[in-house]
Amino acid sequence: MLSNNVPKNCFRLAKRQLSVSRVAKQVVGGVKMPDTDFTPEKYEGMSYERAREIRQKHLVPGLLTYYKTPIFVHQGHKQWLFDTDGKRYLDMFAGIVTCGVGHCHPKVEEATFKQMRKLWHTTNIYMHPTIHEYAEKLVSKMPGDLKVCYFVNSGSEANDLAMMLARAHTGNWDIINHRNSYHGATPGVLGLLAQQNWKFNTPLGFGNHAMSNPDVYRGPWGGKNCKESPVQTDRPCDCQPGHCSASDAYLSQLQEVLDYNCPNKIAGYFAEPLQGVGGTVQYPKDFMPKAYEKIREHGGLCISDEVQTGFGRLGSHFWGFEWMGVMPDIVTCAKSIANGFPMAAVITTPKIAETMKQAITFNTYGGNPMSCAAASAVLDVIDEENLQQNCADVGTYYLESLAKLRGEFEVVGDVRGKGLMIGVELVTDKASKKPLPAAEVLDIWERTKDYGVLFGKGGRFGNVLRIKPPMCITKQDTDYAVAVLRESLREYADAK
Ligand SMILES: Cc1ncc(COP(=O)(O)O)c(C=O)c1O
Repeated sequence: MLSNNVPKNCFRLAKRQLSVSRVAKQVVGGVKMPDTDFTPEKYEGMSYERAREIRQKHLVPGLLTYYKTPIFVHQGHKQWLFDTDGKRYLDMFAGIVTCGVGHCHPKVEEATFKQMRKLWHTTNIYMHPTIHEYAEKLVSKMPGDLKVCYFVNSGSEANDLAMMLARAHTGNWDIINHRNSYHGATPGVLGLLAQQNWKFNTPLGFGNHAMSNPDVYRGPWGGKNCKESPVQTDRPCDCQPGHCSASDAYLSQLQEVLDYNCPNKIAGYFAEPLQGVGGTVQYPKDFMPKAYEKIREHGGLCISDEVQTGFGRLGSHFWGFEWMGVMPDIVTCAKSIANGFPMAAVITTPKIAETMKQAITFNTYGGNPMSCAAASAVLDVIDEENLQQNCADVGTYYLESLAKLRGEFEVVGDVRGKGLMIGVELVTDKASKKPLPAAEVLDIWERTKDYGVLFGKGGRFGNVLRIKPPMCITKQDTDYAVAVLRESLREYADAK
């Protein structure tokens, strides 16, 4: 525990005293990994082998571990991660879209330490300043009547509560989501999860109906005119200017689910404005506003899952639903909300929030003083460092640079996304669009890691590179990441 006489900046002082000698310097395809003036502490903890042994023996076998030779992460600073040997990595996944303002951001660190020295924990049944300060600050970022929030610990928990709230408020049961969607992995929300690899063979999701996914690259409809994006999918399309027929076709699928799967009245509709775990799938223009209309005609509430898309990541807007041009009834957010502190929120209208009086809702850690202090500092940093604008500028540049790889490599099928939420879909060949087999994706991915760049991976077939870095990255960082991906794709092609 930190006592009152520990110097305020003790952690950073320790870091500064250590040598940088083991920090890797790399040049790939003529592009140098950008420098950082940060020096990691010398690692003196358990060995890699010992950690692997413990992981094998004492952590559940189902635990996913990234990479054939997993990295042993020791320290983070902004967009950089350092392993226990001091090797530096450019983190293009941000702890799964979570360290939004950058690892160990000094302002967030300071706010959290400051709170830690005063009060670590009390529950939301007591009055304490931080939860009130933060609630007001968070809802100030919300448009319309979205002015009431409830804090929980994770995105899954937020969606669980949103699902219950939609049902309790409408008195209806059925909820529509999309195939390929991911809204968390607790038993409550597993019904909203529509990807086979995440599903346990247990009874889940009564009343959940996954409609087809409006995926203009892989779905039955859509093509090069269907997205609001500087980079379109490379697929012919017969949409006319100002009218997206793919959107109409997917809306008719929604109508079929309403007509055949559901009673006349439903509880709600869950969607991410841009699918994250599903592989950065972007819906065609106009789909979402019209889907919201249909849902509301059937008495349902519209829930926007902003766990990945929120907090400015998409660049043009603070929230994904604003970009979609819709006004949800309930918004859920997590991940970047507190830069890695366990924290999530459900935000709704005062009227819908009244429903929560039907019974006691209690959560021990939700709105905890330290999480609120961290989350509050995150909002300040996003504004002070203009990170939303950085997502727009750097994100578009990055997307356009990555799109060039599609012209250079047969296996790059699609490049898509918005701001700093980008996906690169790998296929065996452009004509068949067959997902590149897992072993081959891993081959490319492992090479990128060895060159010091960490991408995520997702999509139903695990063949989409997911790029969602801390929002503070620079164009120079993206130049290095693109050079590394190009080199890794080239080496993979040469080895075939
Ligand atoms: C869109 C979305 N919703 C919900 C969740 C669940 O969040 P958590 O892992 O914090 O429970 C995730 C996690 O990846 C997510 O991407």
